[in-house]
Amino acid sequence: MYGMVNKAVEEMVVSQFGDDTWEKIKDKSAIDDELFISNESYPDEMTYRLVTSASEILGLTPEQVLEAFGVHWILHTAREGYGELLTAGGTTLSEFLLNLPSFHSRLTLIFPNLEPPTFKVKEFNDNSLHLLYFSHRAGLTPFVIGLLKGLGTMYNMPLEITLLDSRETGADHKEFLVTWKT
Ligand code: HEM
Repeated sequence: MYGMVNKAVEEMVVSQFGDDTWEKIKDKSAIDDELFISNESYPDEMTYRLVTSASEILGLTPEQVLEAFGVHWILHTAREGYGELLTAGGTTLSEFLLNLPSFHSRLTLIFPNLEPPTFKVKEFNDNSLHLLYFSHRAGLTPFVIGLLKGLGTMYNMPLEITLLDSRETGADHKEFLVTWKT
């Protein structure tokens, strides 16, 4: 994944728990890099190692770390670093979610090595939709939940997110029911 992801993990930990905690997490992950370069590609496995170490050092589950990271990604990383890209996604929450399937395709123009997830939207209503999430990476569902919660906060539109049973929806993707109040 692009270095901006590891960098954002670092920023989240430093802002919420301080530099010393970050150093411990980095040591535990056996990462020697002084800093992460946003536009350079790093092995996915490095990001997973950071999440595992963060969960051990912070006393949280990996799922809790990933969800918090999703919220942080929207409310800080994307908003502060890629604000125009984010606002171009839509003026309302529902518009943003409807545009989500093409969101990362636009990013691949800027980041050619991006291996983005895929989203599909179905059963769109005034106050709900089904969001389908496809990825070749495992275990990132809590990250998606955090991203969606962050978007709800960004648009001042509290969301309810239900992960539908994957036995019914098929194993190659996750399906969320996303509901909001109109
Ligand atoms: C300006 C905002 C955004 C930027 C710059 C961005 C960029 C990225 C980058 C660089 C990666 C790592 C993948 C790679 O390097 O190959 C990534 C992964 C991911 N992004 Fe985005 N993204 C943004 C917004 C969003 C939004 C709004 C969502 C969904 C609500 C989202 C969902 C994801 C997910 C789930 C992954 C994990 C990778 C996977 O599932 O395979 N991103 N994104």
